[in-house]
Amino acid sequence: MANAEVYYFSGTGNSLTVAKRVAERLRGDLVPIASMMDREEIPSEADVIGITFPVYYADLPNIVRRFAETLDFDETAYVFGIATYGGAAGASLKTLNRILTSRGRTLSAGFGVHMPQNAFRKPWESRRRIYRQARKRIDFVVRSIEARKRGIFYTNVPLQRILTPFQERLRRMTARYLEEASNTPSPSGLTVEELIPISDRSFAVNERCNGCGTCARVCPVNNIEIVNGKPVWQNRCENCLACYNWCPTDAIRGGIAKSGYHYRHPNVTAHDIASRHAARAACPSPASLDPDPRVQ
Ligand SMILES: Cc1cc2nc3c(=O)[nH]c(=O)nc-3n(C[C@H](O)[C@H](O)[C@H](O)COP(=O)(O)O)c2cc1C
Ligand code: SF4
Ligand code: SF4
Repeated sequence: MANAEVYYFSGTGNSLTVAKRVAERLRGDLVPIASMMDREEIPSEADVIGITFPVYYADLPNIVRRFAETLDFDETAYVFGIATYGGAAGASLKTLNRILTSRGRTLSAGFGVHMPQNAFRKPWESRRRIYRQARKRIDFVVRSIEARKRGIFYTNVPLQRILTPFQERLRRMTARYLEEASNTPSPSGLTVEELIPISDRSFAVNERCNGCGTCARVCPVNNIEIVNGKPVWQNRCENCLACYNWCPTDAIRGGIAKSGYHYRHPNVTAHDIASRHAARAACPSPASLDPDPRVQ
């Protein structure tokens, strides 16, 4: 068996859970992307390299873009991307391929895995069913990796087809939304990628905040400082919603966190998410993708 590394980024546990299961099946290492981002170079000698991430605004999260720009690997390596999403992969896997191609490498294969939506409520969805289908999907992903399949394999092909021609319009709508979230006068001329870091300008805490610091610990990019017992956001946000969803007192509001909806993968803990500084050997260990009895 070739040596494998599965890198992941995750705010609420979906991508972590998928990456963990794939890494286990490939007998590879599981590595949090957030633990690598203070490095100028990220060399990998693995033969099989995976990059697992959530889809944000129908595209690749900023931190995963930076990671793909920094990761250095042999051109013979088999590299796969796994996008987890609540609806469709959008342009994310193509963007990942474009970044690798611009560096003389290629994405060998890309896979979509449908997971519960973590940004807004979809009342018609059964999370139990989604977790069950995700398990089957991961079987397919692992078999495809073992067979060294090439290509991009989406789950929701019709939605993917419908969305593709509207990608530019979606980006303009996202920019307007993020301008509002970041208190930036519109039109600002800023791109979605430029607006995401400053969209934390409207995050605030209410009287329920007890200064516990969980939000700062789960933030993948050290974007929160606790000052006088309250979080202060530092304008390098990734929009992962970890601070909002893992806050034990539900004290955070504003910007993209205004919906009041919460999501956390039931088998993942705040400690798992906070392990961005963990060494490879001390990787988080969510139980499995099995439906949790507490989840309907
Ligand atoms: C800021 C933000 C934007 C999102 N945009 C999309 C999207 O465009 N399409 C989609 O299908 N899901 C979208 N989602 C949902 C997540 O991609 C999905 O729930 C993912 O599995 C969460 O992964 P995580 O738990 O590892 O953070 C978005 C979530 C967030 C927080
Ligand atoms: S996690 Fe919540 S309660 Fe704890 S410091 Fe952050 S906002 Fe306050
Ligand atoms: S500030 Fe909150 S939403 Fe932004 S990157 Fe940190 S944890 Fe994620």
